[in-house]
Amino acid sequence: MTAPIAHFNGELLPLDQIHISPLDRGFIFGDGVYEVIPAYGGRLLRAREHFRRLQRSMDEIGLANPHSVDEWIAHVNRLLAHHPGNRSVYIQVTRGAPPNRDHVIPKGLVPTVFMMASPLSTPSPEMVERGVACVSAKDFRWEKCHIKSTSLLGNVLARQVSAEAGATETILFRDGFLTEAAASNVFIVKGGVVAAAPRDNHILLGITYELLEELAGQGKIRYEVRPVAEAEVRSADEIWLTSSTKEVLAVTTLDGKPVGSGSPGPVFRRMHALFQDYKAKLASAAAVA
Ligand SMILES: Cc1ncc(COP(=O)(O)O)c(C=O)c1O
Repeated sequence: MTAPIAHFNGELLPLDQIHISPLDRGFIFGDGVYEVIPAYGGRLLRAREHFRRLQRSMDEIGLANPHSVDEWIAHVNRLLAHHPGNRSVYIQVTRGAPPNRDHVIPKGLVPTVFMMASPLSTPSPEMVERGVACVSAKDFRWEKCHIKSTSLLGNVLARQVSAEAGATETILFRDGFLTEAAASNVFIVKGGVVAAAPRDNHILLGITYELLEELAGQGKIRYEVRPVAEAEVRSADEIWLTSSTKEVLAVTTLDGKPVGSGSPGPVFRRMHALFQDYKAKLASAAAVA
């Protein structure tokens, strides 16, 4: 089988011909940032918002952005020309490869840029219909979770807790409050009102999180952003996960106990429908473009 085409520092190459220095600070220190953008039929979902978040992540770590948003989008579209259908575009920028290993950030390094497009696997109809199981854990990650950093060991270890329990995600609590999950944002519904954890340094502000906020406004779904206590999560009528690949997904058990009725709730069904409509409009805009 031929290797898929990927992007490396401005060039399109088969994945197996891309070679990265072992001294690259991404490899040595996890010193880099990334994005994951879903593409439906070649059309990127909220590309500008993703690249604005990439810029925020780069600003937070003092990494100069090698491209403007328009240049990024042009590069991604060139890559997507080799990958028809629905794709998940992974973009990683590291601080580059210095001659030595040293924690101190060297000046004048050229960032390493890598992108690949993988098949986008969104939740199956069965997962949407039945919901998924989650477990919980203490949020033992660092204080800069708002940076979409490639230093993902905390998230990896958190996700492994659910993987070992045969569950879809690990919902995290810090000092008695909900933060997010290992690779998703988390929402609860109580009495018909959606509550989302604050946009602070303890969560990665999801592009899907922001989209949900907009869709709630359009769909006249009551929605608030506020600290959400662990006890509220455990007694919620509904719990949802969101991410670029999970879209919006109902959690129907938490730590083995049913959430609400134990089935995806009515507010979830409404939000899921709004999300699918939004995607369908994107696809039809692509058809006329
Ligand atoms: C820790 C974490 N929080 C939230 C999200 C959701 O972000 P988005 O909706 O932009 O995919 C992700 C996505 O991977 C994530 O890794």
